[in-house]
Amino acid sequence: MSGMDRYAVFGNPIKQSKSPVIHQAFAEQCGHQLRYRAVLVPVDGFAQAARRFFDEGGAGLNVTVPFKRDAFRFADRLTGRAQRAGAVNTLSRGEDGMIEGDNTDGIGLVRDMIVNLGWTVQGRRVLILGAGGATRGVLEPLLKERPRELLIVNRTAVKAQQLATEFADLAGVEGGAYSLIDAREFDLVINATSAGLTGEMPELPGSMLTERSCCYDMVYGAEPTAFMRWAAHHAAWAVADGLGMLVEQAAQSFYLWRKVRPETRSVINKLRDSMTAG
Ligand code: ATR
Repeated sequence: MSGMDRYAVFGNPIKQSKSPVIHQAFAEQCGHQLRYRAVLVPVDGFAQAARRFFDEGGAGLNVTVPFKRDAFRFADRLTGRAQRAGAVNTLSRGEDGMIEGDNTDGIGLVRDMIVNLGWTVQGRRVLILGAGGATRGVLEPLLKERPRELLIVNRTAVKAQQLATEFADLAGVEGGAYSLIDAREFDLVINATSAGLTGEMPELPGSMLTERSCCYDMVYGAEPTAFMRWAAHHAAWAVADGLGMLVEQAAQSFYLWRKVRPETRSVINKLRDSMTAG
C-alpha cells in the first residue's frame, strides 16, 4: 500500500471520536501517508455508506456505535473472533477484493491490561459487569489468556447466562445475576456496562476486592467514572479507564491495514494530556 490511502470511522454520533487523531499520530510515527476521516452516517444508512466508501477506493473502515452489528452483516467474510463477538469494528479490503470484518476491541483490552498496565489475567479470578455488546466483543481474547475463573454478572441475569453458555467451549465461564458475586473475591473486575456513562452504578459488595485487585472500566473520560470511584473507595490495588483500550484497538486496526504495529504509549499520554487540559 502506498500513496494517500483513505480510511474512516463510521458512527452516529461521531463528533466525539478520537480515532482520526489516533490514526494520524500512528501514521506520522510510522512515516505513512494516509487520510482518516470521521463520518456521521444515518442510523439506517450504514451498508449504503460503506459500499460507497469501498467502491470509491477506500482502504479500510473503523466502525463504532451503533453500527458494529451492521458491519458484521456487511462483511463478505469474518475472522473467528469477529464471528464470536457478533460485531465488527474494523473492515479491510482483502487481496481478492472481498471485505473482511474483524473485531479488535478484545485484543485492545487485553493488551492495555497486560502490556501497558502490567496486570495479569492468566490464573486470576475475573469478574465482568454487564452482558451486552461490549462484553461479547472482548470475551474470546480474554478467555484465551486463561483466567482461573470468569464470572459474568448482569442486571438481566438471563443475558449473562446465555453468554456464558455460548462461550463455554473455550473455558469455564459462569453467568447470572449480581447476587452470584455473594461472598466471593476477584483479582480483576471489568466494568462493561453502559451504566458508567450516566453516572449510575449497580450495587456492588466492597468485600469482593482484595488488596491486590485491579479494576478496569471500559469507558473513559476526563473524570474518573462512578465504577472507578467505587473501586478507589474500596482500596483496589489499581484502577484504570478504557482510554488505553481505545488506543490499542486502533493500533490493532492500523496493524491489520498497514502491516506495522505502531507504538501506543506516547499516543495514550498525548490523549490523556489533552483530555485533562480540556
Ligand atoms: P454495550 O454494547 O455497551 O454493551 P448494550 O448491549 O446496550 O451496550 O449493553 C449495556 C449493558 O450495560 C447491559 O449489560 C446492561 O444491562 P441489561 O442487559 O440488564 O440492560 C448494562 N446496564 C446499563 N445500565 C445499567 C445500570 N444502570 N445498571 C446495571 N447495568 C446496566
